[in-house]
Amino acid sequence: MSRTVYVNGDYVPEAEAKISVFDRGFLMADGVYEVTSVLDGKLIDFDGHCKRLARSLSELEISNPHSDDEWLAIHRELVARNDIVDGMVYLQVTRGNPGDRDFAYPPADTAPTVVLFTQSKPGLAESPVAKTGWKVISIPDIRWGRRDIKTVQLLYPSMGKMAAKKAGVDDAWLVEDGFVTEGTSNNAYIVKGNRIITRALSSDILHGITRAAVLRFAREAQMEVEERNFTIDEAKSADEAFITSASAFVMPVVEVDGAPVGTGTVGRVATRLREIYLEEMRKAAV
Ligand code: PDD
Repeated sequence: MSRTVYVNGDYVPEAEAKISVFDRGFLMADGVYEVTSVLDGKLIDFDGHCKRLARSLSELEISNPHSDDEWLAIHRELVARNDIVDGMVYLQVTRGNPGDRDFAYPPADTAPTVVLFTQSKPGLAESPVAKTGWKVISIPDIRWGRRDIKTVQLLYPSMGKMAAKKAGVDDAWLVEDGFVTEGTSNNAYIVKGNRIITRALSSDILHGITRAAVLRFAREAQMEVEERNFTIDEAKSADEAFITSASAFVMPVVEVDGAPVGTGTVGRVATRLREIYLEEMRKAAV
């Protein structure tokens, strides 16, 4: 399959896409990204991703190369050119190519590098694993302190995913000072009765766009939401657990470090939230 990808203003076959070896994204992970899911050819929660992109760029003093309307037009064009029904659009903006390697930022007028590509995932929302749930292990969270910025420094999350795979499970929950921060590429939750517990927003975690929507829907459905730290032991003794992300939506978690969560099967709250999330977000998709 040859995709059409977007590089700095051009739509090109993936084999012809080129980025400089001096690009700050390549040399220094000096860039940010967004992943927006596509269902039925439409973008899910696009506005939320655009807002977070603007914030990530501003925190790193990289100028935002496009208006929200321009970003939307590029996303839609890529979805159309690649015939994406279900899948994702990946977007990356780096500090660009200063023409050499230097720790200091290049002059502010250095053009950022902009890359977007699509990933086709037919049936993304009907993933069979949502019926059986994920198993997770815990690992120490040794990432940097600005996890609220969605940077492309993904080596440790990637190592975490590999540790999970080697352990025969689906993902790793990251633990710092005894408390769960988040999953390798998702936000983490436990459920006790009618109460959903998840870490409060800070620079310790990524401010998930899916998290914001799911907590809003949970409150609207009269569920209680408690934004506070929780431990792995608390997760093991919870009734349910789940994660959220733009690509997994709401995914039940049925096992933590080898111990079943609740009955060890997919729970009622996670199932309901997944249904509500998909239904509402499909309606609001652009
Ligand atoms: N990851 N926490 C981390 C560390 C993440 O990387 C992600 C998203 C999330 C969930 O954020 P959102 O709901 O906005 O997707 C939380 C994306 C999906 C990725 O890296 O592919």
